[in-house]
Amino acid sequence: PVLVVDYGAQYAQLIARRVREAGVYSELVPHNLSTEKMLAKNPAAIILSGGPSSVYEEGTPKGDPALFEAGVPVFGICYGFQVMAQTLGGTVAKTGLREYGATDAVLCAEDSSFLTGTPATQNVWMSHGDSVSEAPEGFRVLAQTPGAAVAAFVDEERKFGGVQWHPEVKHSDYGQVALENFLFNVAGLEKTWSTANIIEEQVAKIREQVGEDRVICALSGGVDSSVAAALVHKAVGDQLTCFFIDHGLLRAGEREQVEEDYATTMGIKVVTIDESERFLGALAGITEPEAKRKAIGREFIRSFEAAQRKLIEEAGNDGADIKFLVQGTLYPDVVESGGGEGAANIKSHHNVGGLPEDMQFELVEPLRTLFKDEVREIGRQLGVPEKIVARQPFPGPGLGIRVIGEVSKHNLDILRAADAIAREELTKADMDDKIWQCPVVLLADVRSVGVQGDGRTYGHPIVLRPVSSEDAMTADWSRLPYDLLAKISNRITNEVSEVNRVVLDVTSKPPGTIEWE
Ligand code: XMP
Repeated sequence: PVLVVDYGAQYAQLIARRVREAGVYSELVPHNLSTEKMLAKNPAAIILSGGPSSVYEEGTPKGDPALFEAGVPVFGICYGFQVMAQTLGGTVAKTGLREYGATDAVLCAEDSSFLTGTPATQNVWMSHGDSVSEAPEGFRVLAQTPGAAVAAFVDEERKFGGVQWHPEVKHSDYGQVALENFLFNVAGLEKTWSTANIIEEQVAKIREQVGEDRVICALSGGVDSSVAAALVHKAVGDQLTCFFIDHGLLRAGEREQVEEDYATTMGIKVVTIDESERFLGALAGITEPEAKRKAIGREFIRSFEAAQRKLIEEAGNDGADIKFLVQGTLYPDVVESGGGEGAANIKSHHNVGGLPEDMQFELVEPLRTLFKDEVREIGRQLGVPEKIVARQPFPGPGLGIRVIGEVSKHNLDILRAADAIAREELTKADMDDKIWQCPVVLLADVRSVGVQGDGRTYGHPIVLRPVSSEDAMTADWSRLPYDLLAKISNRITNEVSEVNRVVLDVTSKPPGTIEWE
């Protein structure tokens, strides 16, 4: 793989995605992983990401000279570019000049190496304080910006290169060209990563893991579990049995919708199991978000185990051969749940950090290394209908993490009614494919005074959280039309008697996450 070394940049995942878009498999590793362990992964190239630190501060991550002596091509970005310059004997100066946002990079070498095919002056996206004032020996300077005398350099012999700007963001007009030029022309890599290859590889892997045994899969109606099921079905056919767990945390009409979608389009038989009592029982009295997530994760597994026992009874054997469980876990779930080797645990996604330790299943997770856009593409190639592939995300823990406070049937019913109104109006206004998703959140622990008719009310607020995003790693709040917001607000406060206030969440991610819990 190409290893993307994460120096704490919010951009590291984006870099990994861009490398895959170029047709090369990439993986994220934390900067504190030892050089020995990095090299043990047999990297085809290493990319050092940007990060919030200054190479001057004490205790900030430094480069390891050994990394540059292994004969592996290295590309540095922003902070990674400075680390590289410093480690190899160049000079990083505290210029006091900060460059942030769009700026012009001007090419300054006769042979532009990995910047070949890009204009003499180009728009690039910057975010730095220090800058490289002198390139290390053996390097040629390729570009400059107003705030950086050395904004790009290359040493073609050793296959080293780097840029001060962020080639991975779309605001850098020729970022992808530069990245691909480096990977293919300087580092000499080949394109080997395509959705067709992923499917072939995963099908083979699933067959090897599962053998003749039987597999169960819990479908949620969403993209990830559907595509995971389609992959496993392609690999082992009728050895797969699919369930849909109604955990009582679904939106209005969702169960019926999902049943119909799978029956009519996926060609996979799905058995619905009502487990709402089990989940609501387990959630009683819990208000702390991680505790909720853990409880939901645990009850999911207990439900699957119940489904497994039922299947075994029906089959009339001892059932020892039903030990596999399919999950649609994605790469960002793994990274955000702290599974990405050294990453911080932001939230325990129900299918990663929320699993109980005494789980009886061996997991089949064919999407564990993939990003959402790759999963959608694979889904399309496998014939998963567009309606499911393009569906807005809905978290596995469902409305359980959208009731702030206790997840009781009463609170869920209030939220379901408000959510149904918001969704109906968003669809009517043709907003569904313009936003990423719009969580509707009930603040069950908060009350405010209102007036309705002639009387005082003391009700709960509903929060609307419309967001736009490319990959859910970062997001911005969507600027919905005021008239639409007014309509939603009016209807919710009129039709849901417990709610007397509707508020709009205008926070990006970071610092907020998309869901409230
Ligand atoms: P956050 O709240 O972490 O959400 O910014 C990012 C995206 O992930 C969804 N989400 C989940 N999906 N299981 C899921 O399947 C979970 O536990 C979970 N938590 C959040 C969320 O809806 C958003 O699209």
